[in-house]
Amino acid sequence: MARKPILAGNWKMHGSVADAKALASGLAANVGKRDDRGVILGPPFTALATTLEAVRGTNIVVAAQNMHFEEKGAFTGEISPTMLQDLGITHVILGHSERREVFGETDELINKKVGSALAHDLTAILCVGETLEQRDAGDTIKVIKGQVEAGLTGVTAAQASKIILAYEPVWAIGTGRVATPEQAQEVHAEIRACANGLGLPGDDIAILYGGSVKPDNVDGLMTCPDIDGALVGGASLKVEDFTRIVEFQE
Ligand code: 13P
Repeated sequence: MARKPILAGNWKMHGSVADAKALASGLAANVGKRDDRGVILGPPFTALATTLEAVRGTNIVVAAQNMHFEEKGAFTGEISPTMLQDLGITHVILGHSERREVFGETDELINKKVGSALAHDLTAILCVGETLEQRDAGDTIKVIKGQVEAGLTGVTAAQASKIILAYEPVWAIGTGRVATPEQAQEVHAEIRACANGLGLPGDDIAILYGGSVKPDNVDGLMTCPDIDGALVGGASLKVEDFTRIVEFQE
């Protein structure tokens, strides 16, 4: 099965509701009708509803940037899968390195969130990535395999269509230091093999690259056979830049 390219924006903790409306409306006008590429926008919680409204009637879908695994309860400050469903959200980013590093999320917690997302029919965008220290120590593949295996524990082949993986080397996030296509391809191929090893249909799972993706480097990354798209931070906040990323040249 040919994998459709997916271009996803992670807006992180940026922007007002008005900013989100302008950004999502601009992207809806530019790329909302494309059906040869999947487009995902990931606004902060406060702008989810507005973003959904702005892309209504287009092919663009909206992702939350995090969620709790429980449906409800005394979890101050958290958002549940059922709350996301209630809004009409279909996708959720999980295990981003900022969640892991800044907020101490463990593989075990992230795996609970993945299981909960799938149980609530949400597509989980599971992020993995090594630090510079780990890469320099020659541990990249070991670290990535560990995160993929832990994150996907308990996921069945039947649920694989609701999984998107994102390889985001920590040293490439927000640094302007993008992985070379060769570096990214090597890890993506390992991730796909790892998914196959878990009994999942690895060839059907989209694996996105993230970390300083820009209009001027997306084309090179997208030539790699195992890079199926991009998860974009900074450049996803500008209509022109993200439009060009969605319109990468094959
Ligand atoms: P940048 O594109 O800003 O490097 O961020 C990447 C990222 O973390 C996307 O989730």
